[in-house]
Amino acid sequence: MRYVVAITGASGAIYGIRLLQELKGERILVMSETARAIIPVETDYTVEEVEAMADQVFDDGQMFASIASGSFRYDAMVVVPCTESSVAKFACGIADTLISRAVSVCIKENRRLVLVVRETPKSAIMLENELKLARLGVTILDANPGFYPRPQTVDDIVDIVVGRCMDQIGAEHDLYRRWE
Ligand SMILES: Cc1cc2nc3c(=O)[nH]c(=O)nc-3n(C[C@H](O)[C@H](O)[C@H](O)COP(=O)(O)O)c2cc1C
Repeated sequence: MRYVVAITGASGAIYGIRLLQELKGERILVMSETARAIIPVETDYTVEEVEAMADQVFDDGQMFASIASGSFRYDAMVVVPCTESSVAKFACGIADTLISRAVSVCIKENRRLVLVVRETPKSAIMLENELKLARLGVTILDANPGFYPRPQTVDDIVDIVVGRCMDQIGAEHDLYRRWE
């Protein structure tokens, strides 16, 4: 399996990092400029350490990258965490960065796309943008954990969100205790 993972500049960079650590298969990573700045602020990882978790890394300005083309095949794309600024771009079809171009391609090619959005509270603009994408088949997965698996640590809470994300792209994991 081949996955595209995009990390944008929302709080919750650790969700993207955990996904990279847990995904089995080929991982193609692209991070926005703000994501690169937030990673060392919010986590114990450097940007270089995060890049080393992927099989291939592109800069957000690399418009000639494979994932900018609909002819390049992969199984699913996840934007995690996803800012509302990026959601707005995606909803309007703006494709002026590698991440927004890859998402635009993913939508036009009817590929599996999950946006792990992190913002609260949300304005009507944000909700309308998310609704527009959801109606196109994009999964809007708020970084919003359930507490029925009884998380004991912050790591457990992160893993619940990442596990729900992996469920959406059909990736095997053992990140949280399912409801029986
Ligand atoms: C520390 C920090 C935390 C942020 N957290 C969020 C957030 O949780 N959600 C969000 O939508 N934007 C957040 N932002 C704002 C975005 O980073 C900003 O809109 C940026 O332009 C998004 O660009 P990108 O989507 O290309 O990464 C945050 C910014 C900073 C500096």
